[in-house]
Amino acid sequence: MSQGTLSRDPLPRRSLLNWFLGTGVGAFMVSTLYPVTRFLIPPRVEESSAQSVALDVKAAELRSNTGRVFKFGKQPAILVRTPAGELHAFTAVCTHLQCTVQYREDLQHIWCACHNGHFDPVTGKNIGGPPPRPLEEYTVSARGDRIAVSRSAPA
Ligand code: FES
Repeated sequence: MSQGTLSRDPLPRRSLLNWFLGTGVGAFMVSTLYPVTRFLIPPRVEESSAQSVALDVKAAELRSNTGRVFKFGKQPAILVRTPAGELHAFTAVCTHLQCTVQYREDLQHIWCACHNGHFDPVTGKNIGGPPPRPLEEYTVSARGDRIAVSRSAPA
């Protein structure tokens, strides 16, 4: 037997190993750099272009001391009926780090679960926790039994 028929060329195995190492390192770099890049350069949050939304809820269906999150364009908004029976609406996007807020019946105000942020249900003012600004207030108009929420004051 000749030497050439028994020896195998180690180059294909080595290049296969190099390929695995190269793709592994490449995948690691992508999986590490992508989240870091997304954190450093967050995606632009689109401003809602909606000016008015008619809600699919009747005013009589909303109990006092409750809140309901709804879509206002592409953004969440919250409709609150205070314990005194007043209707108020705000953006439901927290002014801290953009979590969606909710109404807490036990606290009787708007609350953000992400970092324990608190907002007044009548004014939207930030009253506790890390949120730096009030919630943007919308105008609520109840025509008949239907509720409409808009950015501008009703005509
Ligand atoms: S995101 Fe709402 S308190 Fe931090």
